[in-house]
Parts: sequence; C-alpha cells; structure tokens
Amino acid sequence: MILQGKRILLGVTGGIAAYKAADLASKLVQAGAQVDVILTAAATAFVTPLTFESLTHRAVHTDVLAMATVGEKREIAHIMLAKAADLFVVAPVTAQTLAKLALGLADDLLGATALSCPAPLLLAPAMESHMWEHPATQEHVRILRDRGATFVGPAMGRLASGALGVGRMAEPLDILEMARAVLGRSGPLARRRVVITAGGTLEPLDPVRVLTNRSSGKMGVALAQAARDAGAAVILVHAPLAVPVPQGIEVIAVRSAVEMHDAVFSVLGNTDVLIGAAAVADFRPADAAVQKIKKGETQELLVRLVRNPDILAEVSAYRQERDRPRVVVGFAAETEDLLKNAQAKMATKHLDMIVANDVTQVGSGFGADDNRVILLHKDGKQEMLPLLPKMEVAERVVAQVGEMLGKI
Ligand code: PMT
Repeated sequence: MILQGKRILLGVTGGIAAYKAADLASKLVQAGAQVDVILTAAATAFVTPLTFESLTHRAVHTDVLAMATVGEKREIAHIMLAKAADLFVVAPVTAQTLAKLALGLADDLLGATALSCPAPLLLAPAMESHMWEHPATQEHVRILRDRGATFVGPAMGRLASGALGVGRMAEPLDILEMARAVLGRSGPLARRRVVITAGGTLEPLDPVRVLTNRSSGKMGVALAQAARDAGAAVILVHAPLAVPVPQGIEVIAVRSAVEMHDAVFSVLGNTDVLIGAAAVADFRPADAAVQKIKKGETQELLVRLVRNPDILAEVSAYRQERDRPRVVVGFAAETEDLLKNAQAKMATKHLDMIVANDVTQVGSGFGADDNRVILLHKDGKQEMLPLLPKMEVAERVVAQVGEMLGKI
C-alpha cells in the first residue's frame, strides 16, 4: 500500500540498463504510484520517451528549459517535478550522473531537478566495475550518502562488456523494494527496532535428515516488509525460506530452534517489538546421530525427542520488565479450538497480542499466499479478518503494533 498514490520521479540515464528502467516504471505504476520520468539525452539513445509514456500514461520530460502546465498555470518543468515528488529514483545512474549529482551541476533537466528536489533520493548505479571502483566514483558515492541518498546495488554479474564484476544495476524488484523502504522511513514505526522470526526450524536427526514442518516463511517475510514500510529497522531471524527476503531488511539465517533462540537473544537489546511468526519445533531429537542412520533389517525406529527452548516465552520473561521488548506478538497455528488454544498461548507466553491461525483452512496458513487470522489482544479485544494476502495480514498486524506502541 505504501506506493499507492505516491508521486515518484524516475530519472533514467544513459546506460544499457536503461531498458530495465521501463520494467521498474511499470512495476511502480502497478503498485499504485504516479510516475514522472526524466530521460537524459544519453538515455534517449537507449530507450525512447514513448516507451515510458506508454507505461506511465504521462508526459516524459527531457528538456531543462521546458515549461509544463499544472492546472491553469504554466510552470518551469524541473521546479514543478521537484516540488511534486515524494521520492526521486535514478535508475540506472551512470558514473557521469553520480558525479553531476555529487557536485550539484544543473546543466540538464535531471541535474536541475535534483538540485530543486526536497524528496529523498534513491540511486541504482550501473557501470563497468573499474568505473564503479574508481576513487572518483567512490568519493561521489560517499558525498551523496553523507547527504542522505540511499543506494541500491550495484550487483555482481555479467556487465555490458561481457565481463563479470560489480556494476550491474539492481533488479527492478529490488529497486521497488528499496523505494518502499525509503518512503516508509517516516512511518509509524520510525526509529523502532523490530525483530521478527520466520520459517520452519530444522531439527537434525542425522547428518542428512531433519525433522521440520511446512512453514514457507511467507508470513514472516511479509511482516518484515510491512514493518520496514512502516519505518522500522527490521531484523529477520529466519529458518530456511521458500521466498526471497526483500531489500532493506537485516537477516540472520539459522536452522534449528536452538540457533533461532540464540540469534534472537543476540539482537534483543534495545528491541521495541518482537513478532514470532516462525514455526519453531517444540522438540528435537535428543541425540542427532553422527553418521547417517542405516535401515539395516530394523522394521521400527524409535527417536527420543527433548524439549526445545520456547523463544517467545523466554523473551516475554526476559529480565522481566526492564529489557523485555515493549510489544511481544505471537502466532498460534491451531488445528482445533482456535480461540481457546490461542488465548491460552497468549496467557502462558505473556504476549501482548496473538495472531490465531486456523491452519486447517484451505488456501490459508502453511505455505499459502493468503492467511485467515483472528487478532487477539491481551485486553480481550478481538478482530476477525477475512482471507487476505499475507502482505495485507502483515500490514494489519503492524498497524496494531504501531497503535500499541503509541499507548505505551
Ligand atoms: O511460514 P508460512 O508458510 O507463511 O506459514 C505461516 C505460519 C502458519 C507458519 C504462521 O502464520 C504461524 O502460524 N506461525 C506460528 C506457527 C507455530 O509454530 O505456532 P505455535 O502455536 O506452535 O507457536 C506459538 C508461538 O510461539 C509462535 O509465535 C511461535 O513462533 C512461538 N514458539 C513456538 C515454539 C517455540 N519453541 N518457540 C517459540 O517461540
């Protein structure tokens, strides 16, 4: 939702990655943003204004001396574009344009608009490795970072020359994710630190086998995205995931419940919120075999299990009030007596809120893209949500977290 109705100014400069900027413009429009495109003269050698006009349904700007019409008024185009923007993205940004932006040169529309634009600046560099690594370019990057610009990429990969190296423009989806993160910085969770757990833990039986569950991590990743979009600094502690982790989220990858427990406690200091969406194994094999278990002639294999630490319960009890995160939210994955079991978990784990998840529902819960949940608060308040995409469930949970923090 964060891009809905936002005015994004997209600067495109002259590099082969300019064709990918068309995909970025399309993705931004699909996410609900109004996209105004500025092409530099060099960019028009790679892509045409018509490409972007077709995708954005808006005029494309190329001329620093041009006037634009806003309602009844005629305005200087670069002033009008700069004033209206919520975010200025330059993708791809060449070494030449990085230098121009760092020095504040206004000899074309992109440079002049950047100088007049108070909106945050997001830059996606693309160039040959030697140009990127050159001290002059790195100095310009430092200057721009110090001034508050955010960089996404460049990535390692195949470059226009055919060589492999650092200099590929970040993928459009990664730029879009970073745009969301930058736009969210002043959101309701600004300056809050949020730790989220995700995925199903793996409990080793022997060197090749594990006990696990069907969690894909989609719910936890969506929560991390929603908290990031609300302005939080997010740390996602995750067991293996079936989905990638988007930009702007710090990650700690773990495998077992014990590793997840240790990772959570290693980052708990100064944490405002903990959300436990992971499906943490309650038990692990008591003695993981050192060598692969052979089936031999045995018809039966008994495995002794021992309890894993309960991460959420321990966090809630963490040196009691003093160092406990101010808000602790759990999930309850239930196959029967949803409300009763969820309420009991909220009480025994001393949670502020629990997301009750009936995982018997078709198209919901483990592995699905959607989820049907009930939000239960410790004061008895309940909110039953319809089947929604996990991203929307995450936004509702994060909105509740924001409200709870506001009251503390
Ligand atoms: O990952 P997806 O495929 O997107 O699926 C999402 C989900 C179904 C996994 C998610 O919505 C969900 O319900 N997560 C919690 C699953 C779970 O293990 O629930 P539980 O009722 O067993 O645990 C209750 C709470 O205690 C959970 O917040 C859990 O993270 C936490 N817990 C459990 C055991 C343990 N040893 N330590 C814990 O912290």
